[in-house]
Amino acid sequence: MKNKNLLATIAVLAVVVVGGIFFSTKKDMKKEAGQTDVAKVGVLQFVTHEALDEIYRGIQDGLAEEGFAGDKINIDFMNSEGDQGKIATMSKQLVANGNQVVVGIATPAAQGLASATSDLPVVMGAITDPVGAKLVKSLEKPGANVTGVACPQPIGQQLELIKKLTPKAKTIGVLYSSNEDNSKLNVEKFTELAEKEGYTVLAYPVPSSNEIASTMAVMTSKVDAIWVPQDNAIASAFKTVVASNKEAKVPIFPSADTMVKEGGLASVVVSQYGLGVSTGKMTAKLLKGAKPAETPVDVVDQGAPIINKKVAAELGITIPEEVEKAAGEIVE
Ligand code: TRP
Repeated sequence: MKNKNLLATIAVLAVVVVGGIFFSTKKDMKKEAGQTDVAKVGVLQFVTHEALDEIYRGIQDGLAEEGFAGDKINIDFMNSEGDQGKIATMSKQLVANGNQVVVGIATPAAQGLASATSDLPVVMGAITDPVGAKLVKSLEKPGANVTGVACPQPIGQQLELIKKLTPKAKTIGVLYSSNEDNSKLNVEKFTELAEKEGYTVLAYPVPSSNEIASTMAVMTSKVDAIWVPQDNAIASAFKTVVASNKEAKVPIFPSADTMVKEGGLASVVVSQYGLGVSTGKMTAKLLKGAKPAETPVDVVDQGAPIINKKVAAELGITIPEEVEKAAGEIVE
């Protein structure tokens, strides 16, 4: 009898203990599964300006469209504010923080992340020329841990627009930063094309945004029109560019809708927000397991004209009807 009781007690205890272990491991497993349910994405934005801010908004919406919204995602966001030293340290941090995918907005940020890791997937956000910037081997087959969204500017169409809006222009000045690979490459392409069409192109590289006002003062006296590539330093100081042109009134043709809205005359552009959405979707694809090496770069290059009519009026330029009709957006 005594033995029976003892056995019963042991049996009950065993059930409690085993059950307890089972229950607690189940709880742990649940917790672990819960943790992997939250996607971890690191984002490094090169600098603050309208276009890159809009791209970041688009990235969040693109991720959300693919199901990574609310408590399903944790975005570890950093902004290097144009500082090369910060790019290096922040890239290392984002790689070390346990993110599953890291995204670089603008060329210098993507380059920083790519040199901080050779295995974590890196997404390029709105990069002018990924091959030229040595971020991927080819657009079709990136080959390593980097892929993303490229936005080569429609330079031919931009030059056509310059011809239509300023038919008397002979000399075009090019304003850009001497530190950005994305600008150097496009300036070369633009110069080649414009010279072929008979224009004289004068290049004005600036080493920092502190030199923009003085460079503009010299440049505006020598050129009939100004072209600006997708340059981050110029974009972040675009108000200075416009202000330094107040007296000279030279038509400015930048390479982003945001810069036209801020006082440029016109351009042929792709939407910055749309570039962000595409980048967000690409990030979602990699989170779901796609391999960057075999994921082709998404090239977004179908631009539409945008015209700032207020600026046109200030400059005394009449927009030809056919140009206005073809415009995707008119800023009044
Ligand atoms: N394409 C730029 C780069 O590769 C980044 C960029 C995207 C940008 N949109 C822009 C720069 C608009 C200036 C203006 O770095």
